[in-house]
Amino acid sequence: MMELAHNTAVAPVLPQPILPVVNYRKSVVNGLNKSNQAIYEHMSIQHFKKCAVGSGLADCIDLRLIDDLIEKADAILDFGAGYGRAIEYFHFRNINARLYGIERVKKFADYLRKRFRSHCSVINSDVFEATLPEKLDLITCLWSSIAEFSYQEQVRLIGQFRRWLKPGGVLVIEQTVVGKVPQHFYTTDECHYYHRNGNDLLAYCAPYPEQLDHWCFDVGFKTRNTIVYETNNIPRTLYLYS
Ligand SMILES: C[S@@+](CC[C@H](N)C(=O)[O-])C[C@H]1O[C@@H](n2cnc3c(N)ncnc32)[C@H](O)[C@@H]1O
Repeated sequence: MMELAHNTAVAPVLPQPILPVVNYRKSVVNGLNKSNQAIYEHMSIQHFKKCAVGSGLADCIDLRLIDDLIEKADAILDFGAGYGRAIEYFHFRNINARLYGIERVKKFADYLRKRFRSHCSVINSDVFEATLPEKLDLITCLWSSIAEFSYQEQVRLIGQFRRWLKPGGVLVIEQTVVGKVPQHFYTTDECHYYHRNGNDLLAYCAPYPEQLDHWCFDVGFKTRNTIVYETNNIPRTLYLYS
């Protein structure tokens, strides 16, 4: 197993927030993931794709690093499928796999259905309300999606993923290394980063590697491998739990 690249860097000092973060914090802690829905509801697919280019993920470097898992899986889920970056890649690498995408924003789900037709079962639902017709070999939770949930919600999410996996199935959690966040993010003392986009805020609650280990092993995963890489000078990590 590779050693975990543990970064304990102090969060950068960035300009004071323009929006009232102190009041907002209470609501994000109580329902952080729900509070992040608006930013996606208001985001065009074109802008979403531009963000992927901006974060260096448009060419699917993260997915290329787990080709071996994708190629041998019979059933794969991408959590929060967005515009289908991962779904398209799965189909390209393994045209026989049964593909599932859970996405709660209707406009993205409609786009995915149109784009992938029979190649992917698109579930337009909140992840906590979704049901799947079979157990999976691989679940991906990419592009720091886990950080869009509060820590409490992350524990629940990991439990949900574990129940959806076959014995021996793999959960891949991808995120930027905690403490090294892009310049346009700023932080509070509770490890929440916020990104302003028009009137919307993205609340961000990146888990530390030790927290992920604790929660994942607690629900029955037995091993964790890590793959450290970077995009646009931002260090990122893939955590592979099985
Ligand atoms: C950072 S994007 C990741 C997109 C895609 N997985 C990728 O890697 O390109 C997060 C996505 O998760 C979706 N999402 C966030 N919370 C969700 C939830 N509770 N249930 C379903 N989808 C959710 C968002 O709408 C958004 O499309």
